[in-house]
Amino acid sequence: MIGIFDSGVGGMTVARSIEQLLPTYPLLYLGDIAHSPYGPKSAQTIIDCAINNTRFLISKGAKLIVIACNSAASVATDSLRQQFQIPIIEVILPAIEEAARTTKNGRIGLIGTSATIRSTSYETALTEINQNIKIFTKACPLLVPLVEEGWHNKRETKMILKRYLHSLKNNQLDTLILGCTHYPLLKHLIGPRIGKKVSLVDSSETTAKYLKHYLHQNPHLKATEPHTPEQNRYYITDYNDTAQKVANRIFNRHIDLLLTRNICKS
Ligand code: DGL
Repeated sequence: MIGIFDSGVGGMTVARSIEQLLPTYPLLYLGDIAHSPYGPKSAQTIIDCAINNTRFLISKGAKLIVIACNSAASVATDSLRQQFQIPIIEVILPAIEEAARTTKNGRIGLIGTSATIRSTSYETALTEINQNIKIFTKACPLLVPLVEEGWHNKRETKMILKRYLHSLKNNQLDTLILGCTHYPLLKHLIGPRIGKKVSLVDSSETTAKYLKHYLHQNPHLKATEPHTPEQNRYYITDYNDTAQKVANRIFNRHIDLLLTRNICKS
């Protein structure tokens, strides 16, 4: 069983891509809505939440963890790998590898939450792959609430995006990483505003491809029982109507959100 966690339901963009690529693998998802958003929080708070989330998923039978949340992946991956013995896959490495393969001029952009940008996690991952590629970053903290409000096509969202992308546009990027669970839902606005010649790297898709390859190389993690995507389970640590709407929108079907409170600290 693959355990996936995020600060909320935005990480379902990653779960959806995994479901599409690996429909016969059982997925167990946890959205930590009780402590969401992670983006503006300190690294230590996010690490504590990530540890609790991982414990919960393992207690429910997860044999591999996917950190779908960029903010958590940025600050908590090392702590999780030290503390837990099962494989931990995260969204940063697959996205940075894809961006490094895609760029022709060696100039990559990254947008994400404040926690992600502040952590310089993407820069660190890039140094290990290719030291000649330059990365230009921009924190876009207003985009998550806009997506959660369902403002995917509002004038205000377009204006805010234009403003965020303005400073990146002067850097002659040819590749832009969407370094946040929610940004795939704004691809249709980001593409035209950053420029048609800039390739977008969607970390939900790259993570699913990375996971598929990983499972191919680690066949002992293969699912043994027959399974369909409808059997996947989606837990949340608090409920609200917005979460339900976002979840249904991401999957384009009704998602049964199962409430669990036993991992909440507060
Ligand atoms: N899931 C977070 C991320 O990808 C965005 C939402 C939040 O700030 O919690 O960084």
